[in-house]
Amino acid sequence: MLNFTFHSPTKIHFGEDQIRVIADEIPADAKVLLVYGGGSIKHNGVYEQVVGALADHTWFEFSGIEPNPTYDTLIKAQDIIKQHGINYLLAVGGGSVVDGAKFIAAAALFEGDDPWDILIKRAPIKQALPLGAVLTLPATGSESNGNSVVTRDGNKLPFASTLLRPQFAVLDPKVTLSLSDRQISNGVVDAFIHVIEQYLTYNVNGKVQDRFAEGLLQTLIEEGPKALNAETKNDLAIRGNIMWSATMALNGLIGLGVPQDWSTHMIGHELTGAFGIDHARTLSIILPAVMKVKRAEKHEKHEKLVQFAERVWHLTDSDETIKIDKAIALTEDFFKRMQVPTRLSEVELTKDNIEGILERLQQHGMTALGEHSNITIDVSRKILTLAL
Ligand code: NZQ
Ligand code: ZN
Repeated sequence: MLNFTFHSPTKIHFGEDQIRVIADEIPADAKVLLVYGGGSIKHNGVYEQVVGALADHTWFEFSGIEPNPTYDTLIKAQDIIKQHGINYLLAVGGGSVVDGAKFIAAAALFEGDDPWDILIKRAPIKQALPLGAVLTLPATGSESNGNSVVTRDGNKLPFASTLLRPQFAVLDPKVTLSLSDRQISNGVVDAFIHVIEQYLTYNVNGKVQDRFAEGLLQTLIEEGPKALNAETKNDLAIRGNIMWSATMALNGLIGLGVPQDWSTHMIGHELTGAFGIDHARTLSIILPAVMKVKRAEKHEKHEKLVQFAERVWHLTDSDETIKIDKAIALTEDFFKRMQVPTRLSEVELTKDNIEGILERLQQHGMTALGEHSNITIDVSRKILTLAL
């Protein structure tokens, strides 16, 4: 296992009717900006609960953060922040709203000329407004990590800082009951692939991380399809297990001291930036192709693919090649059961689109991806071609 330092300062309040705790979590004298998206929180009772909890606080609101939040929308929040002296952000929504609030928090105290430099020039974040989150869509883990992804003119770029970790997050599984099947699918698949990107690399004897990762994968495989089944979809125990899995998938714990491979995400971001495809659906298309290319090239991922086959899919074939074939097929089958695409053709992309995607990867410096930094543009071409 590699060296690591672990500090996960987000206080989690899990369970039904926990939204009220935000009253105690946010300092009484704070000037709060409630940040949300396109209005789903006004149709499922979440807005009322938040407003009720903020009854004794001074607060303002900023709405309209879109899925895959854009710089152009987020930058508008700076006016209201300056006008009212806002000093605390409360994000209420899915990953896009929480990510958006992180950019707003960093931009508010950014010392340079243009906050877009945080993404395009990787300008350091030296300070940020504090934030808390009420999560409404289990998927990204954004509620307890320091990561964010923001889009400008089709360029979807990630940035991160420990200063952007929410101080607290409320995880009430009940608020997820209003999600569409599409968003449930997206969330389960996104969380699954977050685990895979931190697990399916090479063995460094990180036994605790591996076993945690395998437990999360198995939970998502077991519970994900139930959240789409008419008979079980409103079961709060199922929703709760999915919600906690998604948080644990990307709060930093399982990635400590182990190699990581974020190639599926980085290629996926280009598909969203260029064609507007939902984040998780880009991942379900790219991951199977990454597995296939990387098992072939120098047998990278071989050992972990075998472990994945044995421990997650309980495969017992003596031939390791067959085990890996079956594990990849079962992963694709899981994605199909979760109703997400596994090929570019399913989202109407063809081989004619590949060079354009590669140009974007080049332009964004995504030329040495993967745990060995050897997924070059040529390897990404192989991956995209296999994903057709
Ligand atoms: O905007 P509203 O009206 O709230 O509607 C949203 C949105 O249309 C809706 N929704 C959310 N909660 C709901 C609900 N509808 C009904 N009931 C509820 N309880 O769902 C739609 C999608 O929301 P969004 O926040 O975009 O989804 P998600 O949570 O999947 O977030 C995706 C974004 O997170 C980024 C992605 O790239 C993408 O931009 N990611 C962030 C990461 C991180 N910070 O660590 C890691 C991820 O890999 C990912 O890249
Ligand atoms: Zn993701």
